[in-house]
Amino acid sequence: MTTHIKTFAYHSADYAKSLNLRDQVLRQPLGLSFTEAELKKDENDTHFGLFEGETILACLILTETENKRMKMRQVAVDTRYQGKGLGKKLSLAAEQYALNKGFNVMFCHARKTAAPFYQSLGYSIVGDEFVEVNIPHYIMQKNLV
Ligand SMILES: CC(C)(COP(=O)(O)OP(=O)(O)OC[C@H]1O[C@@H](n2cnc3c(N)ncnc32)[C@H](O)[C@@H]1OP(=O)(O)O)[C@@H](O)C(=O)NCCC(=O)NCCS
Repeated sequence: MTTHIKTFAYHSADYAKSLNLRDQVLRQPLGLSFTEAELKKDENDTHFGLFEGETILACLILTETENKRMKMRQVAVDTRYQGKGLGKKLSLAAEQYALNKGFNVMFCHARKTAAPFYQSLGYSIVGDEFVEVNIPHYIMQKNLV
C-alpha cells in the first residue's frame, strides 16, 4: 500500500473528506454528531491526513497551546485500516511537525480504549480519568525533546 501524509486547509476538499472520516469513526459509533461549536475549533488548527491516492485513511488535528505544548486531537483511522500502523505513522509525522515548530510536549485527551495505542508511542497518563463525549478519557502526554 502506497500512502502519503499531507496537511490541508480548513474548508478544503480534503478537509471535507477528513470530517466525513471523523464523523464515521469518532461520532457515529457514539450516536453523536459534530456541533457548530466543535467545528469552529477546527478553523485555526493544522489538519493532517494520511492518503492512499485521493482516499483519506487516517486524520488528526494539531492545536497550538501555551508553554510550547501542542494538543493532538481527533485522531481517526478508517475502521477497515485500523491496526496496520497507520495511526502510528500519522502521529509520528505530527510529532515531528510540532518539534520542528519548536513545541516541547505533545498531549491529548485520549479515550481510555485508545490509551494502549498512545502508550505504545511513548505517551504517559497524567492525572485522573474524566468523561468527554460521554466516555472515559485520560490526558496523555509525551516529551518531544
Ligand atoms: C486508536 C487508533 C487511532 C490507533 O490507530 P491504528 O492505526 O489502529 O493503530 P496502529 O496500527 O498504528 O498501532 C500502533 C501501535 O499501537 C498499538 N495499539 C493500537 N491500538 C491498540 C489497542 N486498542 N490496544 C493495544 N494496543 C494498541 C498497536 O499494537 C501498535 O503497537 P506496535 O507499534 O508495538 O506494533 C485507531 O485504532 C482508531 O481510529 N480508533 C478509533 C477511534 C479512536 O479511538 N481514536 C482515538 C481517539 S483519542
